[in-house]
Amino acid sequence: MSKSYPIPQHILRDLAEVEKELAKIALSTDGVLAEISLATLKAGGKRLRPALVLISGMVGDYDLGRFMPAAVASELIHMASLIHDDILDDAGTRRGAPTVNSIWGERIAVAAGDFLFATAFEILSRLEMRSVEIMVNAALDLSLGEFDQMVTAYVVDQSIEDYIQKAKRKTAALFAACCQVGSHLSGASAGDIAALTSYGENLGIAFQIYDDVLDIAGGKATGKEIGVDIRDGTITVPIIYALEELGYDSRFAAIISKQRPDDKDVKEAIRLINECGAISRTRETARSYVDKAIDSLKAIPKISAVEVFRGIGEFVIDRYH
Ligand code: FPP
Ligand code: MG
Repeated sequence: MSKSYPIPQHILRDLAEVEKELAKIALSTDGVLAEISLATLKAGGKRLRPALVLISGMVGDYDLGRFMPAAVASELIHMASLIHDDILDDAGTRRGAPTVNSIWGERIAVAAGDFLFATAFEILSRLEMRSVEIMVNAALDLSLGEFDQMVTAYVVDQSIEDYIQKAKRKTAALFAACCQVGSHLSGASAGDIAALTSYGENLGIAFQIYDDVLDIAGGKATGKEIGVDIRDGTITVPIIYALEELGYDSRFAAIISKQRPDDKDVKEAIRLINECGAISRTRETARSYVDKAIDSLKAIPKISAVEVFRGIGEFVIDRYH
């Protein structure tokens, strides 16, 4: 399993600059907010979204100064959304570290997420209108996707199409926006921007599907608890496939639709999913979206960027976290 994604040296250097900007933001605050911002930064993360902004910028005229606000804002929106997501999931750990809600409590965590989210928009306001529009729409989609997921929790008769619609909003919209904004800011052609946006969307769907695999079969290396989706009633791809295999009137379906499953129920559901072949089928589905993502790039002339995008595609469906 790969722990990182392949990336050219010059992008790595520029990502270090993005990291410095993020640290500056954290250090511009004080007290508890500074502690939380620094802890969130230190907890790490793959910085996949800023990387997508920069790599997409390779397709046209590369200029870090122009991409920087979008790259920084993409990570801030992501960080804010994870802080809020951990509150909603009542999650105790992420990336092997205690979550903000588990250390400082939910009320403080809401306010800290709001700060990072608002800062993202302050930074975006340095860009021209089209870029702001791309990123604002992605943030809107994120909140709608999360909302959709909450109101359809524990409902077992959901199709793959229902799931994909939510994944597009919750996860893929920000991936797509990063690719779109990076290529737009580089002055790429309309065709190249559309191809990259499609790459980002399909990559994001694959990412979310693989995330669902990690929730069931990830083990300790993910740094977060497993079975959270079952506990929260989130109907993911492995759960949909297991329902198809085991039946909508099975013991499995009864656990999945139960509002407060206990630890024994969650363990049993995980065992049933693992035993019925749903995980390998889910991996295949994730792979099909990576293939679709890479296929979107066939007309992109900049071969070096396409190679990096291909590597990122392989990484998102073969990672620990
Ligand atoms: C993680 O998914 C969460 C998201 C991809 C989006 C969360 C969005 C919100 C909470 C609403 C938007 C909020 C802001 C501030 C824009 P997951 O729960 O499937 O993954 P996990 O296992 O990593 O928690
Ligand atoms: Mg979550």
